[in-house]
Amino acid sequence: MRILMVCLGNICRSPLAEGIFRNKIQGTEHQVDSAGTSAFHRGERPDMRSLRTAKKHQINMDGIHARPFSVDDFDHFDRIYVMDRSNLEDVLALARDEKDRKKVDLLLNASHPGKDLEVPDPYFGGEEGFEQVFHLIDVACTHIVNSLPSE
Ligand code: 4NP
Repeated sequence: MRILMVCLGNICRSPLAEGIFRNKIQGTEHQVDSAGTSAFHRGERPDMRSLRTAKKHQINMDGIHARPFSVDDFDHFDRIYVMDRSNLEDVLALARDEKDRKKVDLLLNASHPGKDLEVPDPYFGGEEGFEQVFHLIDVACTHIVNSLPSE
C-alpha cells in the first residue's frame, strides 16, 4: 500500500506522520510519503520542534523535505490521510471523481472511527504541542499499520 500524509505546511505534522509510519513499516513493501496543501515551505526540512520530538522517540526523519500536494498524488497513493478539516477540504477540492474522494480521510478516524477529530496545528504553540501531536499520530499510525493487507 502507498500512503500519503497531508497537512498545511508539510513541516510539522505530516513529516512527523511520515517518520512515524515509516518506522512502523520498516522491512515491508508498504510506502509512505507526506505533502502540504500549501507550497509555503517547499523544499524545507521539518520544523526543528518536529525534528527534536521525533529524535526523542527514536524516529528517523532523514530525507524528509516539504513539497506541495498535487492532483497526481491521487494516482500515486492508495490512501491519503489529512490532519485537519481544513486540509480535508483543500484535498477534496482537488479530487476529480469519487475514486479520488474515497482515498481521503482524517488521520484520527483511524484511531477514533467516525469522530472526525483533528490533529491540532502545533506551529504557533510550544514544544509540548508537538509532543501531544506525536502521540495522536503514533496511535493512529499503529491502527493503520494493523489494518494494512499483508503482502
Ligand atoms: P503543519 O504546520 O501544517 O503541521 O506543517 C504549519 C506549518 C506552517 C504554517 C502553518 C502550519 N505556516 O503558517 O507557515
